[in-house]
Amino acid sequence: MMRTYRTVSEAVSTNSELKKEIAASPLPCFSVLRAVKQTGGRGRLGRSFFSPEGGLYFSASFPVRTEAENIPFFTLLCGLAAAEAIDEACGVKTRLKWPNDVYLNGKKLGGILCELISGRTLTVVAGIGIDLSVRAEDVPEELRGKMTSLFIERAPLPDPDVLMRDIVARLDRMLSVTDPAVFLPELLERSCSIGKKVSFTRKGAAEYGTFAGIAPDGAAVIRTESGEIVNVRSGEVNFVEG
Ligand code: BTN
Repeated sequence: MMRTYRTVSEAVSTNSELKKEIAASPLPCFSVLRAVKQTGGRGRLGRSFFSPEGGLYFSASFPVRTEAENIPFFTLLCGLAAAEAIDEACGVKTRLKWPNDVYLNGKKLGGILCELISGRTLTVVAGIGIDLSVRAEDVPEELRGKMTSLFIERAPLPDPDVLMRDIVARLDRMLSVTDPAVFLPELLERSCSIGKKVSFTRKGAAEYGTFAGIAPDGAAVIRTESGEIVNVRSGEVNFVEG
Protein backbone atom coordinates (compact mmCIF):
# COMPACT_ATOMS: atom_id res chain seq x y z
CA MET A 1 0.00 0.00 0.00
CA MET A 2 1.14 3.56 -0.59
CA ARG A 3 2.41 5.17 2.63
CA THR A 4 2.62 8.83 3.63
CA TYR A 5 4.40 10.00 6.78
CA ARG A 6 4.12 13.24 8.74
CA THR A 7 5.69 14.22 12.04
CA VAL A 8 4.46 17.05 14.28
CA SER A 9 6.23 18.33 17.38
CA GLU A 10 3.13 17.94 19.52
CA ALA A 11 -0.42 16.58 19.34
CA VAL A 12 -3.13 15.99 21.90
CA SER A 13 -3.46 12.46 20.53
CA THR A 14 -2.37 11.27 17.09
CA ASN A 15 -5.38 8.90 17.04
CA SER A 16 -7.80 11.78 17.66
CA GLU A 17 -6.00 13.94 15.12
CA LEU A 18 -6.18 11.32 12.35
CA LYS A 19 -9.82 10.56 13.18
CA LYS A 20 -10.64 14.25 12.78
CA GLU A 21 -8.85 14.36 9.41
CA ILE A 22 -10.62 11.23 8.17
CA ALA A 23 -14.02 12.63 9.19
CA ALA A 24 -13.26 15.69 7.01
CA SER A 25 -12.00 13.69 4.01
CA PRO A 26 -10.83 10.09 3.59
CA LEU A 27 -7.03 9.80 3.65
CA PRO A 28 -4.89 7.88 1.17
CA CYS A 29 -3.78 4.38 2.15
CA PHE A 30 -1.52 4.21 5.17
CA SER A 31 -1.47 7.78 6.35
CA VAL A 32 0.91 7.86 9.26
CA LEU A 33 1.03 10.70 11.78
CA ARG A 34 3.73 10.84 14.44
CA ALA A 35 3.95 13.29 17.33
CA VAL A 36 7.17 13.90 19.26
CA LYS A 37 4.98 14.17 22.35
CA GLN A 38 1.27 13.97 23.16
CA THR A 39 -0.54 16.14 25.67
CA GLY A 40 -3.60 13.89 25.87
CA GLY A 41 -2.42 10.43 24.78
CA ARG A 42 -5.24 7.91 25.00
CA GLY A 43 -5.20 4.24 25.94
CA ARG A 44 -7.86 1.56 25.81
CA LEU A 45 -10.97 1.71 27.97
CA GLY A 46 -10.75 5.50 28.29
CA ARG A 47 -7.40 5.43 30.08
CA SER A 48 -4.71 8.01 29.43
CA PHE A 49 -1.33 7.14 27.92
CA PHE A 50 1.76 8.85 29.34
CA SER A 51 3.44 10.39 26.27
CA PRO A 52 6.39 12.64 27.16
CA GLU A 53 9.10 13.60 24.66
CA GLY A 54 11.47 10.70 24.06
CA GLY A 55 8.94 8.03 23.14
CA LEU A 56 7.49 6.90 19.83
CA TYR A 57 3.84 7.86 19.35
CA PHE A 58 2.13 7.45 16.02
CA SER A 59 -1.09 6.46 14.34
CA ALA A 60 -1.55 4.78 11.00
CA SER A 61 -4.87 4.78 9.17
CA PHE A 62 -5.72 2.15 6.62
CA PRO A 63 -8.92 1.16 4.85
CA VAL A 64 -10.36 -2.27 5.63
CA ARG A 65 -12.95 -4.41 3.96
CA THR A 66 -13.41 -6.78 6.86
CA GLU A 67 -16.62 -6.65 8.82
CA ALA A 68 -16.32 -5.00 12.22
CA GLU A 69 -16.18 -8.38 14.01
CA ASN A 70 -12.62 -8.97 12.82
CA ILE A 71 -11.30 -5.64 14.07
CA PRO A 72 -9.89 -7.08 17.34
CA PHE A 73 -7.37 -8.94 15.23
CA PHE A 74 -5.86 -5.68 13.96
CA THR A 75 -4.87 -4.79 17.51
CA LEU A 76 -3.06 -8.12 17.81
CA LEU A 77 -1.28 -7.64 14.47
CA CYS A 78 -0.15 -4.12 15.42
CA GLY A 79 1.29 -5.55 18.61
CA LEU A 80 3.08 -8.30 16.70
CA ALA A 81 4.49 -5.85 14.13
CA ALA A 82 5.74 -3.57 16.93
CA ALA A 83 7.20 -6.44 18.96
CA GLU A 84 9.07 -7.90 15.98
CA ALA A 85 10.46 -4.51 14.92
CA ILE A 86 11.63 -3.67 18.46
CA ASP A 87 13.29 -7.07 18.87
CA GLU A 88 15.15 -6.73 15.61
CA ALA A 89 16.26 -3.15 16.26
CA CYS A 90 17.32 -3.69 19.88
CA GLY A 91 18.20 -7.37 20.23
CA VAL A 92 15.60 -7.90 22.99
CA LYS A 93 12.66 -10.29 23.36
CA THR A 94 9.38 -8.46 23.80
CA ARG A 95 6.18 -10.26 24.76
CA LEU A 96 2.53 -9.50 24.10
CA LYS A 97 -0.12 -9.21 26.75
CA TRP A 98 -3.50 -9.80 25.14
CA PRO A 99 -5.01 -7.78 23.60
CA ASN A 100 -2.86 -4.68 23.25
CA ASP A 101 0.25 -4.39 25.39
CA VAL A 102 3.90 -4.87 24.47
CA TYR A 103 5.92 -6.11 27.44
CA LEU A 104 9.64 -6.22 28.12
CA ASN A 105 11.08 -7.98 31.16
CA GLY A 106 7.66 -8.19 32.81
CA LYS A 107 6.73 -4.52 32.43
CA LYS A 108 4.68 -2.58 29.90
CA LEU A 109 6.84 -1.05 27.18
CA GLY A 110 4.07 0.05 24.86
CA GLY A 111 0.42 -0.14 23.94
CA ILE A 112 -1.86 -0.26 20.95
CA LEU A 113 -5.18 1.51 20.46
CA CYS A 114 -7.10 0.53 17.32
CA GLU A 115 -10.24 2.45 16.51
CA LEU A 116 -12.72 1.81 13.72
CA ILE A 117 -14.18 4.67 11.75
CA SER A 118 -17.21 3.68 9.73
CA GLY A 119 -18.21 6.29 7.19
CA ARG A 120 -18.54 5.83 3.47
CA THR A 121 -15.60 3.47 3.81
CA LEU A 122 -14.38 1.45 6.76
CA THR A 123 -11.08 2.77 8.16
CA VAL A 124 -8.95 1.59 11.05
CA VAL A 125 -6.85 4.10 12.98
CA ALA A 126 -4.11 2.11 14.67
CA GLY A 127 -2.26 4.03 17.37
CA ILE A 128 1.03 2.71 18.67
CA GLY A 129 2.96 4.09 21.62
CA ILE A 130 6.37 2.80 22.73
CA ASP A 131 8.48 4.08 25.60
CA LEU A 132 11.99 4.57 24.30
CA SER A 133 14.06 6.87 26.47
CA VAL A 134 11.89 7.71 29.50
CA ARG A 135 14.09 7.79 32.65
CA ALA A 136 13.01 5.86 35.74
CA GLU A 137 12.79 9.09 37.76
CA ASP A 138 10.39 10.61 35.22
CA VAL A 139 7.87 7.76 35.44
CA PRO A 140 4.76 9.03 37.28
CA GLU A 141 4.15 7.53 40.72
CA GLU A 142 1.08 5.54 39.67
CA LEU A 143 2.98 3.82 36.83
CA ARG A 144 6.13 2.92 38.82
CA GLY A 145 6.91 -0.76 38.65
CA LYS A 146 4.31 -1.25 35.90
CA MET A 147 5.83 0.52 32.89
CA THR A 148 9.34 0.54 31.51
CA SER A 149 11.33 1.97 28.60
CA LEU A 150 14.15 0.70 26.41
CA PHE A 151 16.44 3.10 28.27
CA ILE A 152 15.41 1.70 31.68
CA GLU A 153 16.00 -1.85 30.38
CA ARG A 154 19.43 -0.79 29.08
CA ALA A 155 18.51 -1.73 25.52
CA PRO A 156 19.98 0.16 22.56
CA LEU A 157 17.80 3.12 21.56
CA PRO A 158 16.58 2.93 17.96
CA ASP A 159 15.92 5.98 15.81
CA PRO A 160 12.17 6.52 16.36
CA ASP A 161 11.51 7.27 12.70
CA VAL A 162 13.32 4.15 11.48
CA LEU A 163 11.51 1.99 14.05
CA MET A 164 8.14 3.48 13.08
CA ARG A 165 8.70 2.82 9.38
CA ASP A 166 9.71 -0.75 10.09
CA ILE A 167 6.56 -1.33 12.19
CA VAL A 168 4.36 0.12 9.44
CA ALA A 169 6.09 -1.96 6.74
CA ARG A 170 5.59 -5.14 8.80
CA LEU A 171 1.95 -4.27 9.45
CA ASP A 172 1.41 -3.61 5.75
CA ARG A 173 2.80 -7.08 4.91
CA MET A 174 0.67 -8.72 7.60
CA LEU A 175 -2.50 -7.00 6.40
CA SER A 176 -1.95 -8.27 2.87
CA VAL A 177 -2.40 -11.85 4.12
CA THR A 178 -5.98 -12.97 3.50
CA ASP A 179 -6.39 -15.04 6.64
CA PRO A 180 -4.82 -13.29 9.65
CA ALA A 181 -5.18 -16.50 11.66
CA VAL A 182 -1.88 -17.60 10.06
CA PHE A 183 -0.23 -15.31 12.65
CA LEU A 184 -1.74 -17.19 15.59
CA PRO A 185 1.36 -19.34 16.24
CA GLU A 186 3.57 -16.22 16.44
CA LEU A 187 1.04 -14.44 18.66
CA LEU A 188 0.86 -17.43 21.00
CA GLU A 189 4.63 -17.86 21.10
CA ARG A 190 4.99 -14.22 22.24
CA SER A 191 2.03 -14.22 24.59
CA CYS A 192 2.63 -13.60 28.27
CA SER A 193 -1.09 -14.01 29.02
CA ILE A 194 -1.32 -17.80 28.75
CA GLY A 195 -2.03 -19.41 32.11
CA LYS A 196 -2.87 -16.06 33.78
CA LYS A 197 -5.95 -15.65 35.96
CA VAL A 198 -8.63 -13.44 34.46
CA SER A 199 -12.03 -12.14 35.39
CA PHE A 200 -14.70 -11.56 32.79
CA THR A 201 -18.39 -10.82 32.61
CA ARG A 202 -20.95 -13.11 31.09
CA LYS A 203 -24.64 -12.25 30.99
CA GLY A 204 -23.89 -9.45 33.44
CA ALA A 205 -22.27 -11.73 36.02
CA ALA A 206 -18.57 -11.74 36.97
CA GLU A 207 -16.73 -15.03 36.40
CA TYR A 208 -13.14 -16.17 36.85
CA GLY A 209 -10.98 -18.33 34.67
CA THR A 210 -7.58 -18.91 33.14
CA PHE A 211 -6.37 -17.38 29.87
CA ALA A 212 -5.89 -20.44 27.66
CA GLY A 213 -5.24 -19.10 24.16
CA ILE A 214 -6.35 -16.91 21.28
CA ALA A 215 -9.22 -17.85 18.95
CA PRO A 216 -8.88 -17.49 15.15
CA ASP A 217 -10.92 -14.27 15.32
CA GLY A 218 -8.62 -12.76 17.97
CA ALA A 219 -10.90 -13.39 20.96
CA ALA A 220 -9.47 -14.61 24.28
CA VAL A 221 -10.01 -18.31 24.96
CA ILE A 222 -10.76 -18.72 28.65
CA ARG A 223 -11.10 -21.87 30.72
CA THR A 224 -13.62 -21.15 33.46
CA GLU A 225 -13.28 -22.46 37.00
CA SER A 226 -15.75 -25.22 36.11
CA GLY A 227 -13.59 -26.26 33.13
CA GLU A 228 -15.79 -24.78 30.42
CA ILE A 229 -14.02 -23.17 27.42
CA VAL A 230 -15.39 -19.77 26.38
CA ASN A 231 -14.30 -17.16 23.83
CA VAL A 232 -14.43 -13.66 25.22
CA ARG A 233 -13.88 -10.39 23.41
CA SER A 234 -11.60 -7.56 24.31
CA GLY A 235 -12.93 -5.11 26.88
CA GLU A 236 -14.68 -7.82 28.86
CA VAL A 237 -11.55 -9.55 30.14
CA ASN A 238 -9.42 -8.31 33.02
CA PHE A 239 -6.22 -9.86 34.29
CA VAL A 240 -6.29 -10.55 38.00
CA GLU A 241 -3.16 -9.02 39.53
CA GLY A 242 -0.74 -11.06 41.54
C1 BTN B 1 -3.00 1.36 25.86
O1 BTN B 1 -1.98 1.24 26.52
O2 BTN B 1 -4.13 1.08 26.34
C2 BTN B 1 -2.91 1.84 24.44
C3 BTN B 1 -1.98 2.99 24.27
C4 BTN B 1 -1.94 3.53 22.87
C5 BTN B 1 -1.05 4.76 22.76
C6 BTN B 1 -0.90 5.27 21.37
S1 BTN B 1 0.32 6.55 21.27
C7 BTN B 1 -0.19 6.99 19.67
C8 BTN B 1 -1.71 6.90 19.65
N1 BTN B 1 -2.33 8.12 20.11
C9 BTN B 1 -3.01 7.96 21.25
O3 BTN B 1 -3.63 8.87 21.86
N2 BTN B 1 -2.93 6.68 21.66
C10 BTN B 1 -2.15 5.88 20.73
